[in-house]
Formats: sequence, C-alpha cells, structure tokens
Amino acid sequence: MADYRMCHSPRLSGEVWIGTAKNAVLPIMAAALLTGEECVIRRMPELTDVRHMEELLESCGAKTARQQDAAVIRAAAVQNPTADERMRSMRASVLVMGPLLARNGECVCSMPGGCAIGQRPIDLHLKGLQKLGARVEMEGGQIRVSGKLQGANIYLDFPSVGATENLVMAATLAKGMTRIENAAKEPEIADLCHFLTAMGARIAGIGTNNLMVEGVEMLHGAEYTPIPDRIEAGTLACAAAMTEGSVLLQNARSDHMRALMFKLAESGVIFQEDAKGLRLRGKAKRPMEVRTLSYPGFPTDMQAVLMTVTTQINGLSVFLETIFENRFMHVVELVRMGAHIRVEGQLALVQGGKPLTGATLQSTDLRAAAAMMLAGIAAQGETLLHDPADHLMRGYEGLERKLQLLGADVHKQA
Ligand code: UD1
Repeated sequence: MADYRMCHSPRLSGEVWIGTAKNAVLPIMAAALLTGEECVIRRMPELTDVRHMEELLESCGAKTARQQDAAVIRAAAVQNPTADERMRSMRASVLVMGPLLARNGECVCSMPGGCAIGQRPIDLHLKGLQKLGARVEMEGGQIRVSGKLQGANIYLDFPSVGATENLVMAATLAKGMTRIENAAKEPEIADLCHFLTAMGARIAGIGTNNLMVEGVEMLHGAEYTPIPDRIEAGTLACAAAMTEGSVLLQNARSDHMRALMFKLAESGVIFQEDAKGLRLRGKAKRPMEVRTLSYPGFPTDMQAVLMTVTTQINGLSVFLETIFENRFMHVVELVRMGAHIRVEGQLALVQGGKPLTGATLQSTDLRAAAAMMLAGIAAQGETLLHDPADHLMRGYEGLERKLQLLGADVHKQA
C-alpha cells in the first residue's frame, strides 16, 4: 500500500521517457499461450498488472522469465488457470480465455474483476466465442467455454476492446475464415494483431473496424516490442498543460494521441513533433467539451485526468462519459479540494478557475488516482493521496518519478 504526498508545483519542464503500454502488453502476454514455442516481449513495463498476468500465465502452465527488460514466455502445454485470485483481481485476465479455448478446446475460469468503473460484463466475449462454435456454461460460479472452433461472421454490438482481442486470438487457430465486424480499433488491438502476425497468424484489416482472420494449424514463437503508452504520455501532457510547462515526451506516438492533442491545442497548448518525440508548451486556458468514445474518439482512460486540468481553466467545461457508467468517482475527491463540479448522470459540468486546496484523498481506480495526483500538483498546500489498493502501480510505471523528473513536488511514501 502506497501513499503519495504532493505540493503545489510550478511549471513542469524537461524530458521524460514514455514506457510501454500496459494495455498492449497484457493481451500480447495472453497471446503467448497460443503457441508452445518461446515468445519474447521486449521493453516490459514494471507494473503490478504485468506481474499479475505473469502469475496467471504460470498458473495456465506457462513458464515465464525475465531477461533484462524482456519477458520470455513459453507455454509448452496449457491448462485451466488455477490463480483464481488473479482472475478476480484483474479485468484483463479474461484475455486468457480465447487463447486457452483455441489451443486446448476448453477454458474454465472465474469471472474477471478489475477497476470498479462500471459493471464490465463479458457478454460480447462469450457471444462471439459461441459464434465460433464454443459452448458456454456456468459451473459453480465459474465459466466454462469449450469446443472446437470454426471460423464465423461476428458482429459486435459494441466495439469492445477486450472482446475484439479475445475473439481475434481465438480465431487465429479456428478452422476457416472469421470476420469480426464493428471490431474495436484501438492502437493496442492493432499491436496485438501485429504480434499475432509475427507468430504466423493471418489477419487482414488491422487497424480497422473489420478484421478478417484466416485460421492456421498452429502458431510459432515470436519476438516483439509493444507500442508506447498513449495514456501515460497523455497524463504527462496534461500535467504540463495544466502548469504552463514545456515538456518533451520521448518515444510518444502522437498518431495515437490525436483526440487529446486536439482538445489541448484548442485550449491553447502548442505541440511540436520531432525525431525525439512530442514536445508541448503553453497552458490549457480555454474550457473544453469532451465526449469519450471508442478510438479514434477521445479515450475514456484520459477523462479523469483531463477533468483535473479543466478545474484550472476559467469557464464551463463539459464531459460526457459514454463508455463506462461509473467513471466519475474522482469527482468527489476533486470537489473535496474545492473544485466546482456537478455530475448529472453521464455528464460532468466543471466550473473551472476556482483554486484547489490540498486535502487527504483516497484513490478509487487507476485513472482517478492519476487525476488526483495532478490535482495535488495544482493545489495550494499539501495533498495526501492514499492508494490502499495500489491502483497507480497497477498501470503507471513510476508516474510520481516521472513527474518529479519534470520538477513536480510529488513523493511516494511506502
Ligand atoms: C479496455 C482497457 C481499458 C479501457 C477500455 C475502454 C485494457 C486492459 N483495458 O478495457 O483501460 O478503459 O478498454 O477503452 O485494455 N462491455 C460489455 N460487454 C462486454 C465487454 C464490454 O457490455 O462483453 C462494455 C463494458 O462494460 C464497457 C464498454 O463495453 O462499458 C467498454 O468495455 P471494453 O471496450 O471491453 O473495455 P475493456 O476491454 O474492459
């Protein structure tokens, strides 16, 4: 359990390296279950979710090891996951279902858990697997999916990130052609597809809403470096924009961050791309209207953090959250610091420009915790952030260290 202490910090400046994307690494690790050969994933981020995924893969029969910054995963034979606690504690654990089913003809596991930002059902995963010929049963609180997979036409009622990933992975070893329409097209999904292709999968339409997967007999090992984290980059960009900073985000992929960049640019921030990464300077000073959407729309994972920025902008900013039904949990804590925010259903109205004052806060989920850390940097006085579930360490690789590097007064207390 970690606590963080923040004080008002002037303009952030300097250079910071953007690490590998959690949401790309986790599905890629799960995909390593599709082959008995060795997979090597480079530039692994040091995150608890990643460690938990390693434990989960081990419980599925894989051997995992670290060589410098690489994870080496070999799943010579696979079995149903025994790490029940890991299945329950992490939403992304559901991603072992598609690979285990495709490779073994069966997967029995607990319902996945994760951040409490909404109901997060897995009906779209299960419906798609049924389309591929799987039987789905509930057994003593566990889900059992089984059967030999056959390519099929699947239409997702909603472009779910996780369901798209699970179905693509399952389809790589199904017999014949699978078409997934209304698939999600987040950069992390394209990254997974590139890894699967490196393993010998045949996938067309990568990066679009229409994925075509031609099943193959077997996949082989591969080496891969996943993409940088657009949410980490976005969070640091927001911290810079809030303090009128000047920051270079080394290794950031601006092509994955367009929605956020447009919002910040409209608000007064100046971006410049060069060979070293993405530079930004200036202050976000005009209020914003933000609607979260599937990629390439504005990412729900940036909503809380950007809301903190708008508390510092004169005028009314409006946030419409359309992806998760319970993703305004940071609002209570921001209000505790003096922010004027009203929530009406899926809408949050921020009357910005009111000074924040330091307070004792409690994190509720990963991105909310990051939003609170930024609020502590903006606030007058000292802010203490309790993070009893270590949300920040689940998904950010030393966010406090990176902010410190840019001059922020943030300290972690073990
Ligand atoms: C992934 C990301 C998460 C991000 C989210 C949306 C990972 C590990 N996590 O989560 O950081 O916030 O995408 O960009 O990559 N839904 C259903 N039925 C389903 C599946 C989803 O109703 O079977 C609903 C969810 O409850 C939610 C919405 O669809 O309201 C989006 O979920 P989804 O895109 O599946 O997100 P995750 O894969 O869980």
